[in-house]
Amino acid sequence: MKMLKTITPLALILSLGLAVHAEDTPMEKEMSAMNKAYKALKKSVEDPAQKAENLKLIADIKKTAEASSKMEPKTAATQPAAGKAAYLDKYKAQMADFSKEVAALEAAVTAGNTAAAKASFDKLNELKKKGHEDFKKD
Ligand code: HEM
Repeated sequence: MKMLKTITPLALILSLGLAVHAEDTPMEKEMSAMNKAYKALKKSVEDPAQKAENLKLIADIKKTAEASSKMEPKTAATQPAAGKAAYLDKYKAQMADFSKEVAALEAAVTAGNTAAAKASFDKLNELKKKGHEDFKKD
């Protein structure tokens, strides 16, 4: 009985968590996948011995960025009608800059240029911060 008292609230919290997660937008799903690849890459990006694995993670980031660039951030829905097109253009432009840097990172890793790979990786972090500041509501 005592066990049940402990398990029931835990089960409730878990199912609530799952319910909240089930409401993820398609973009949030892409971003979560991007986050997973990005975090793994952070550990290995400066290791030329892990080139094949790094290129696979970069391909994952590329794919999720391409998919996200075709989606609208949640915040677009609350933009004033007059400014919405410009807001989405700005979002697409920042996503395009991000994808360009992913291509630069891919080239650096392919060439085994660790310094350039690290510089591109850091740039991606800046673009991520800027993208979240401009388009993501906490
Ligand atoms: C390394 C790059 C990036 C990583 C690791 C990343 C990671 C994430 C994560 C973890 C979330 C939350 C997902 C969730 O709530 O389940 C998110 C959401 C979001 N991110 Fe990123 N992000 C990156 C780059 C960008 C860029 C470049 C932009 C825009 C130019 C952007 C725009 C957004 C927006 C708008 C959301 C909210 C999703 C929505 O509106 O539906 N992110 N991101």
